Order: sequence, then C-alpha cells, then structure tokens
Amino acid sequence: MAATTADTDFIHVFEPGSDPARRPLLLLHGTGGDESDLLSLGRTVAPGASLLSPRGKVLEGSAPRFFRRLAEGVFDEADLKRRADELAGFVMSARERYGLPAPIALGFSNGANIAAAMLMQRPEILGGAALLRAMVPFAEPPRANLAGKPVLILSGALDPIVSKANAEALARQLGESGAAVEHRVLPAGHGLGQTDIGLLKDWLARR
Ligand code: MLT
Repeated sequence: MAATTADTDFIHVFEPGSDPARRPLLLLHGTGGDESDLLSLGRTVAPGASLLSPRGKVLEGSAPRFFRRLAEGVFDEADLKRRADELAGFVMSARERYGLPAPIALGFSNGANIAAAMLMQRPEILGGAALLRAMVPFAEPPRANLAGKPVLILSGALDPIVSKANAEALARQLGESGAAVEHRVLPAGHGLGQTDIGLLKDWLARR
C-alpha cells in the first residue's frame, strides 16, 4: 500500500501491483473526489494491477475536478484541452518513474470525461479505457487513430447527467476512430453498482 505523494505536479497515489501480467490502471475520480476514491474499486476489478491515481487540479468550490466546466455538462473546452495534455504529461513521467507500460484509464464521471478527451487528443498515452458514466468531451472531436484500443463504456439508462444520445455519440466517435468499443447501457443512474463492478472485472480480465 502506498501513500499520497505531492512531489510531482499532480498529488497522487501509486500502489505497485503484484501481477506483472496485469496492465496498470490510471484511476480518475469524479467531481468532488480525490486520489483515494477509486483505489478500492481498482483493487477489486483488477487484482494485482499497479494503480496510479492522481487528484484533479481544478477546484470547483472545494470540489476537485480534472478540468473546468461552465455549467453541468457544458465544458470549458480550451481548459479541457490544456488539462488533458497536462494529465498526459503526468502519466508519461509517472510511467518513467515507476517503470510502467501504457495504463488503462478507469474513469468515473468527470474522470471518465477527461479519459475520453485524452484518448482523442493523446491516444499514445493510454492502452485503453473503461469509461463509467462518460459523455462526449469535445463538440468537434479531434481526429485520432485509436486502432484496436479497447474501450468499455458503461452508461446508466436513468442517468440524469448523461443522456442516452450523448453516450451513444461518444461510443460512435471512439468507434469511428478505430477503437474496439463495447458500450453497455445499465438500468442505473449516474452512480455505480454491482453490475458495473462485474462487467469491469470481466472486461479487464480480457485485457
Ligand atoms: C463533468 O463535468 O465532467 C460532468 O458533468 C460529470 C460531472 O462531473 O458531474
């Protein structure tokens, strides 16, 4: 078990894994979360994987996020672009420092949205992504080559924040860029449940 460190440009936790066959996970929390939020989910769905978990640097009131928004679901896209690059830089330096291959992002809500942005903008950074309750990050998606990258999108049919059409548009955009997208719509809201955990575990075991 490792502690939070603040000696890089992102406060983060790195928990070394015990199973080198497992891809590391890049854990990206939702609005108001922090670097400890998704650790136990990561341990549950990818036992033995290394976990890299940064804290978003943007504060909305006192709630950490990974990029600015103008209103719920309305993103400051210039900030999102800059923050996705900044997070990509952190991942590259963490990979060097901890000796990691390209991680799979496991992001929830705001964390899933920056993971989707990173996939489109800096596809080389991630080995794939599991996007939980994600939405389309950019009005005009950058043209990325995501050939063969595995992406799991888990959406909630009753999600008050992400519409069905929006989640479908995200799946379509990533698929059109070549990603191997699996999109499941669960009878759920914005919060996560046992079904998410089971699907995540199965999907990650196949990576
Ligand atoms: C976002 O701002 O990324 C989305 O609205 C999800 C959220 O954080 O509530």
